[in-house]
Amino acid sequence: INNGNGVKGLSEMGLKSLPKQYIQPLEERISTASFGIKNSEETVPIIDMSNWDDPKVAEAICSAAEKWGFFQLVNHGVPVEVLENVKEATHRFFELPAEEKSKNSKERSCSNNVRFGTSFSPQAEKALEWKDYLSLFYVSEDEASALWPPACKDEVLEYMKKSEILIKRLLEMLMKRLNVKEIDQEKEGLLMGSMRINLNYYPICPNPELTVGVGRHSDVSTLTVLLQDQIGGLYVRGGTDKKTWIHVPPVKGSLVINIGDALQIMSNGRYKSIEHRVAANGSKNRISVPIFVNPRPSDLISPLPEVLASGEKAVYKQVLYSDYVKHFFRKAHDGKSTIEFAK
Ligand code: SIN
Ligand code: FE2
Repeated sequence: INNGNGVKGLSEMGLKSLPKQYIQPLEERISTASFGIKNSEETVPIIDMSNWDDPKVAEAICSAAEKWGFFQLVNHGVPVEVLENVKEATHRFFELPAEEKSKNSKERSCSNNVRFGTSFSPQAEKALEWKDYLSLFYVSEDEASALWPPACKDEVLEYMKKSEILIKRLLEMLMKRLNVKEIDQEKEGLLMGSMRINLNYYPICPNPELTVGVGRHSDVSTLTVLLQDQIGGLYVRGGTDKKTWIHVPPVKGSLVINIGDALQIMSNGRYKSIEHRVAANGSKNRISVPIFVNPRPSDLISPLPEVLASGEKAVYKQVLYSDYVKHFFRKAHDGKSTIEFAK
């Protein structure tokens, strides 16, 4: 399987059928009925941020974070050409020769902060996921300039920088609702002290109905800012029963935001980190570019004192963030089980 060019390499060999390592158990497959990707009547809120200091915007964002854990933003202030450039750069990176990309593989990368790989945690998975990725952990601009692949680094850095204002605004709104009046340096570190950005590539799949692009999981971030292209395939748990899989339709120029486990824990369960997954596609190569906004690895995370001030009982215990993340990566994608680690 490991030809150094991930699933993209397999896809381009023109396989007639899916290699058996990728065949998911029945209950994890994403039904072909959902491949038409018709928008469900009920989908995640689309919020216009052009008047971001209007209290109605904060209200819409906080309610969406409580009810859906997912929302889409338009007029979010990140320039559309920055988004277009990062999508182009993502294609450029994955179209590099296998030899060039695999310089960033686990075995060959000169840094743990730069990783080209495939699936999620192949050693732990019974069935593999139909996805390649480049994962970049941001330490400093100098390090990024020196170590990130030249095919995409400028565009990715620009996307990160231009998203920072949006990330701060969102966190301010979400914190205010939790009675956190101000995000001081300490809180800023806890909420957004480290960033990771992934470039995801989901190549055309010979049997999309038998596998997944990404299996069911919730993110371990504080929040995730996701850029997706126009192809579609992201599904989140929703509906009145919170069991239905609801498609997140691509909206031109938008960013998808979701709450991660760290913020569910800090908000003592008020904001929801929702399970989601990605279908494989039989006719198009899809990309997505999430920015994971995280606590620092050395942070202890627990329900915030401001949330518990009213006498509310803590639903989660204190955990070291790096332990939490390690626990997540040690197993295959398995829904929402990681959060049990904080109970
Ligand atoms: C993910 O949640 O891991 C990826 C989301 C996407 O590709 O849309
Ligand atoms: Fe995710």
